[in-house]
Amino acid sequence: MPRTDVAFQRCISPDCGATRGIDEVLVACPECGGLLDVAYDWDRATPPTSLRQFEAKWSRRSEPLCFSGVWRFHDLLPFAPPECVVTVGEGQTLLQQADHVGRYIGLQPGRLHLQYEGMNPSGSFKDNGMSAAFTHARTTGAQRAACASTGNTSASLAMYCSVTRLMKAVIFIGSGKISYGKLSQALDYGALTVQIAGDFDDAMARVREVCQELGIYLVNSINPFRLEGQKTIMYRVLEALAWEPPDWIVVPGGNLGNSSAFGKAFSELRELGLLDHVPRLAVINADGADTLYELYEQRQLRWEGGRPALVTACQYYDELDREHRKASTIASAIEINRPVNLTKCLRALEVCDGVVRRVSDQEILDAKAQVGSGGIGCEPASAASVAGARLLRQQGVIGADERVVCILTGHLLKDPTATVAYHTTDQEQFNQVLGSRGVRRASFANRAVAVGNDLDEIVKAIRLYS
Ligand code: F0G
Repeated sequence: MPRTDVAFQRCISPDCGATRGIDEVLVACPECGGLLDVAYDWDRATPPTSLRQFEAKWSRRSEPLCFSGVWRFHDLLPFAPPECVVTVGEGQTLLQQADHVGRYIGLQPGRLHLQYEGMNPSGSFKDNGMSAAFTHARTTGAQRAACASTGNTSASLAMYCSVTRLMKAVIFIGSGKISYGKLSQALDYGALTVQIAGDFDDAMARVREVCQELGIYLVNSINPFRLEGQKTIMYRVLEALAWEPPDWIVVPGGNLGNSSAFGKAFSELRELGLLDHVPRLAVINADGADTLYELYEQRQLRWEGGRPALVTACQYYDELDREHRKASTIASAIEINRPVNLTKCLRALEVCDGVVRRVSDQEILDAKAQVGSGGIGCEPASAASVAGARLLRQQGVIGADERVVCILTGHLLKDPTATVAYHTTDQEQFNQVLGSRGVRRASFANRAVAVGNDLDEIVKAIRLYS
């Protein structure tokens, strides 16, 4: 049973504010069609009185709920009792000081940290949210769960289904729009994989209809429980920084689930008196999928106390349709033109005095190579955060001595095609994968050295290049 005594669902629009029980399966407000939050009656729950209390959990890490990087913060997402929680050990991630990448961005030593969410069991940050959505799905008795995906949500859903055997996974992907690393996960884990003739935005529209028609539980980030899990990324960042908030959180923006979840996390921590100031938030779009940038920075769309002028967004979507403009970027994970969490993200930008930027595929891949050369690595979409931080530094928005955390959302091995094409000596392969995206050069390529099958030649090459 879900914790109906302390948690409920609430429409984010203050004009509507409709509430529903958390035992209902909803992805939109039944009254006005807006987005829903999971809300808490904190007087009935038992929130911590200090963030330091969470440190005690580590000594109890033999218990799965203390080991999980999501559920050790259960007191800040108390919508289900412990016995209903689904965990596969997600959230064992790393916050790493990265001076080498910091120098590339233009920051002083010690000021940049990278949050490696690719270390999650399915290789991306999605596992944080999926364990929360799965937990809710379980409390409602769901048998099947579905998502539309650019690859990571589907990998995560497929993994939770196959590890727990609690539900069957149905995933929707756009044709030719998913990297092999991610597709191979969904196939290997046994998900029913539906490849539709269209892109992510089309797949997202269809999966909502299908879930409605067949009563399937939808796990995209439009599901408010997903975002409860993703709040914990910020708790872990704070924990790794000894609970001292950084000046900036920089995150790639696709469907805008992460940015929305981060804003909610900080606003709740402030409300609970656990944090006295919140970091600023920078959301980074790719040039070819820049709806948030266009609406927020160019057309000045704002949260406006919960009354954003959504007609601005509708006009923009009409323009996209009229001009047949589809999202297009090498960062396939964020190749999204109609972000489902737009209004929640506007709220997060308000809470965190946020900015939005867009970066080119060239900047993304160069930033990705810098991250990779510092070790561990990330997939292209993740590197948008580093490229965005660099741009903000160049613009003087971020100061050289400010403390910055870039969120690396997915593992390097998710998209080896882009990485190998960047480092290749084969011009044809480079052009085929990257040239068509406007990428002209691989500024930080580490090229393989071709030698004959001959000891002398090999020794000579090693002497020359090492
Ligand atoms: N980075 C990666 C690696 C992603 O997979 C995604 C989203 C994002 C960033 C964007 O995050 O939606 O919270 O703004 N991937 C989704 C998917 C859409 O289907 O896997 P967001």
